[in-house]
Amino acid sequence: MKLGVLISGRGSNLQALMAATARDDYPAEIALVVSNQPQAAGLERARDAGLATAAFDHRDFADRQGFEAEIDASLRGAGVELVCLAGFMRLLTAGFLEGWPDRVVNIHPSLLPAFPGIHVHEQVVASGTRFSGCTVHFVRPEMDAGPIIIQSLVPVRPGDDADTLAARVLATEHQCYPKAVKWIAEGRVRINGDLVEVDGAGTPQMAAINPI
Ligand code: GRF
Repeated sequence: MKLGVLISGRGSNLQALMAATARDDYPAEIALVVSNQPQAAGLERARDAGLATAAFDHRDFADRQGFEAEIDASLRGAGVELVCLAGFMRLLTAGFLEGWPDRVVNIHPSLLPAFPGIHVHEQVVASGTRFSGCTVHFVRPEMDAGPIIIQSLVPVRPGDDADTLAARVLATEHQCYPKAVKWIAEGRVRINGDLVEVDGAGTPQMAAINPI
């Protein structure tokens, strides 16, 4: 399956997908990396690895439609079959998403539907919740919404700040995103309304309690 990865910054999730897709037995490859930030560090990572890249600075466009039309055309030109948002900081409109039905996925650094939006880790720490994690989900027009494919669970520790929590969550993001994309590429993921079924995937038995 050909992937298009959309980024805006650092690109560590892109890197995780690059590492996964480099393996012979992985059922997907990255056909194109697109950024709305021409200076994104992730573009450099992609170019260094010999991947095709494109940058469309959203500030160069009069409206969202024009910006998205360029992205859409570049993805289609590269033969992309699944669009992976990886730290892409622009909302995609319903119009764009209609052209990619159930073909856009996102990773978010919280246990959705809790803590959508930005400044996630600050909010999690301030809330006093004992757990956080990440979510990979199909994208719907509402921000950080859509059927959930996989989540990780990470404890919030005494003394955590946004940075220490972000690092702990990020390590699990790098595990979850390649796994979810692999399942999709293998044709094992089915959407039933708001629910996702993954054929052949297991479920952990344990309950996690924090603090212990
Ligand atoms: C990640 O935390 C991701 O969940 C969020 O934005 C961040 C992107 O990080 N959507 P990176 O660019 O992949 O390193």
